[in-house]
Amino acid sequence: MKIVITGGAGFIGSHVVRLFVTKYPDYQIYNLDALTYAGNLANLTDIENAPNYTFVKGDITDAGFLTEFFAEVKPDGVIHLAAESHVDRSITDPMSFVMTNVVGTVNLLNAAKDAWKGTGGAGPPVRSAFDGKRFYHVSTDEVYGSLHNADEFFLEDTSYDPQSPYSASKAASDHFVRAYGNTYKLPVVLTNCSNNYGPNHFPEKLIPLMIHNIQQNKPLPVYGKGENVRDWLFVVDHARAIDAVFHNGNLGETYNIGGFNEWKNIDLVHLLCDIMDRKLGRETGTSAKLITYVTDRAGHDLRYAIDANKIMHELGWQPSLQFEEGLEKTVDWFLQNQEWLDNVTSGAYQGYYQEMYTNR
Ligand code: NAD
Ligand code: TYD
Repeated sequence: MKIVITGGAGFIGSHVVRLFVTKYPDYQIYNLDALTYAGNLANLTDIENAPNYTFVKGDITDAGFLTEFFAEVKPDGVIHLAAESHVDRSITDPMSFVMTNVVGTVNLLNAAKDAWKGTGGAGPPVRSAFDGKRFYHVSTDEVYGSLHNADEFFLEDTSYDPQSPYSASKAASDHFVRAYGNTYKLPVVLTNCSNNYGPNHFPEKLIPLMIHNIQQNKPLPVYGKGENVRDWLFVVDHARAIDAVFHNGNLGETYNIGGFNEWKNIDLVHLLCDIMDRKLGRETGTSAKLITYVTDRAGHDLRYAIDANKIMHELGWQPSLQFEEGLEKTVDWFLQNQEWLDNVTSGAYQGYYQEMYTNR
């Protein structure tokens, strides 16, 4: 089996690539990534020489490139993670989200459809033309919008109500994937996952940003009153869920992924401060003094919460870690991988990132 994993040099993608390369030595894994600011091959040094792993630098907004790539590799499966993924960036630069998340996804759908079905076929599309093939689209719970009542959860049939340019672009891409499943009978499967955290998380997102700033004794910017709620899942558990759905999920279906693990931002930041104080040998309460309330994010979604019963009951997937344990592991990883963190936060890595970072 040949599988193309897009966005495999990013945070979640690198964990998915690692899992597939090590767990399935008989598969050929192609990591297709444009290496934007968020893509980092240093995430994959441990498996870069594996015989079943190939990295291909390529941009999913380039339809011609994708056509040639699919014709050459002839993949059996696609696991699509490449995306612009940061809400704050989507507020300042929505068009790059339209290009990668919407246009890029449609380009990828077209490349798979044409490569798998052949272009010369006559008559209506039939599912059997795609036997043995699978197009897996990785999406987010943010497409469902913002919850306001404590007893509400996102279910697979919750109406889409995206509120940020990021979530609107992911919602559009989800609609295209389902439309290709319906119209062309492309064998698609989708997942919508809650917020991930763990090793290799790019330090523009809440948890790694806080770890980095605590370490550097810099202010910890909490948006608004810190009362927004996110539902956190360890990234390796997301990768395990992707493995389960890719192999055993029913075609045409959507599965929500989450660990029933909701945290108010301010409570999470306090927990991180306590863990860091302990790890760094600081007096309890030292890091919490760095907490600084800053202007709220525009259109900030109040609460996300996933109901993950479907994947748990139908596919037997369960998160493997409790949050406190996952957070400890994550902090340990960042403390032990100082070079990785220094590299991605240095001006040499990305001027743009450096500018955003120093303005905080
Ligand atoms: P990330 O920003 O860390 O990585 C994205 C990767 O995609 C990078 O390696 C980047 O180089 C690559 N990429 C970007 N534009 C590209 C293009 N035009 N062509 C080819 N490659 C390109 O993102 P992530 O946090 O790992 O998220 C991966 C996927 O999972 C995304 O689709 C995201 O919407 C989804 N998701 C993320 C979370 C989360 O908490 N991070 C939760 C649920 C779903
Ligand atoms: P983030 O990690 O950007 O993920 P998302 O917006 O996709 O959920 O943010 C998580 C939460 O943390 C969100 O409510 C915004 C908040 N936040 C801060 O309070 N300060 C920050 O510096 C960042 C990056 C996020």
